[in-house]
Amino acid sequence: MQLKIVQAGDPVLRTGGRPLTPVEIVGDEIQQLIELMRETMREAPGVGLAAPQIGLPLQLAVIEDVGENAATDRTPVPFHVIANPRLVLGPEMVDHFEGCLSVEGFQAVVSRASTARVEALDHRGAPVVIDASGWYARILQHEIDHLLGTLYIDRMLSRTLSTSRNFGRHWAGVPIAELLEKLAARPGTPR
Ligand code: CO
Repeated sequence: MQLKIVQAGDPVLRTGGRPLTPVEIVGDEIQQLIELMRETMREAPGVGLAAPQIGLPLQLAVIEDVGENAATDRTPVPFHVIANPRLVLGPEMVDHFEGCLSVEGFQAVVSRASTARVEALDHRGAPVVIDASGWYARILQHEIDHLLGTLYIDRMLSRTLSTSRNFGRHWAGVPIAELLEKLAARPGTPR
């Protein structure tokens, strides 16, 4: 079964979520929700899904990435759950295209920390500490943003916004530095 993924403009994407107690997390309701979120994420397909994206204002997200890409420092991440996360960003930033299941059909370049530490509760309500880097660090930052009512479009380099079709047609595989130069505002453009 698949849940409906809400799109930008739905207020729940802007309110974020409330924390869950460990007792709630191990309860039937949240355990069933986690299963449905897992199926919905896989079916979408996506590498993460946050509860506000299915209309629930809870600090809960599921993550799973089976992809691999040396260029974006992407390695497989097994399925896991984060609840009530606290995020500490590393000092280095990296630019890359990202998209969102709640902003269907678009991608844009977002600057994200290349490393991140997350303290959260897992699917059993137990505290975990995650030290992530590369694409996984980006996924965590993206999903935790959802839990606080923020979307990637709030952080994107707006001139890079592209439909997914045009991304495939013009920008896939183009080095980010080259792409930013091509998309830069022309000198003399009034701000
Ligand atoms: Co998203």
